[in-house]
Amino acid sequence: MNETIQLLLNHRSIRKYKETPVSEEQLDAILGAAQHASTSSNMQAYSVIGVTEPEIKNKLAELAGNQAYVAGCPLFLVWCADLYRYEKAQSLHMRDKQPSTVEHFIIATVDAALAAQNAAVAAESLGLGIVYIGGIRNNPQQVSELLGLPEHVYPVFGMCVGVPDQEPLTRPRLPRDAVYHANKYNTACQSEAITTYDETMSAYMSERTDGKAATSWSEAMAAKTGAQRLHMRPFLRDQGFMLE
Ligand SMILES: Cc1cc2nc3c(=O)[nH]c(=O)nc-3n(C[C@H](O)[C@H](O)[C@H](O)COP(=O)(O)O)c2cc1C
Repeated sequence: MNETIQLLLNHRSIRKYKETPVSEEQLDAILGAAQHASTSSNMQAYSVIGVTEPEIKNKLAELAGNQAYVAGCPLFLVWCADLYRYEKAQSLHMRDKQPSTVEHFIIATVDAALAAQNAAVAAESLGLGIVYIGGIRNNPQQVSELLGLPEHVYPVFGMCVGVPDQEPLTRPRLPRDAVYHANKYNTACQSEAITTYDETMSAYMSERTDGKAATSWSEAMAAKTGAQRLHMRPFLRDQGFMLE
């Protein structure tokens, strides 16, 4: 096992941070790592807003569903899919605007996620902790207004960054066979994988909550059923993502 893999295996989301600010040097390293992620056709179709102003963080914490650690972390990064710069570059050479398609949307969203994950790993390698915050998509319009996002840009998720003030257990993952399929997708293994993982997650949840909850994975997934964030489609259209 090398150090890089050990670092990846040690990942756990951090939801309590010390007040120590993230230094400029650390931020440089984190952003350098993010910028060197692979990117579709070198489009680099993402932007990241670094929020340190307490007032803006407080508002974002509220908009993300009152997640206190968004206000409590020293640095909150908002990762955005960004086709604004791409369209601007195109307009230097083309008169007709290219509509942004579903494919463009996927490219920009994937680019944002790849850059963010590189940043996350870099931050963890510096002894910092992170947690992704999809909660900002509860109120994407207000988040976009607060951050002054132009058209063709949307906030994919946030990320708290800071020095950890807790040491949570690492969260167990599905058995490898559930996610890795040799040559062909294996539907047959999924039921057994879920049963096995349910037992693992129940035990983990019980330990994490001092026996107060022993929710299995499938129970947690069942609780997530139903349409979520249906406002995303009209919001994305308003932001200029045509999704044709
Ligand atoms: C895109 C994305 C959005 C997430 N949104 C939230 C969030 O809003 N609040 C939160 O506390 N955790 C959030 N998480 C963290 C996940 O709950 C966490 O990564 C997962 O349960 C696995 O736990 P671990 O990161 O500790 O291994 C998010 C993770 C991802 C990848």
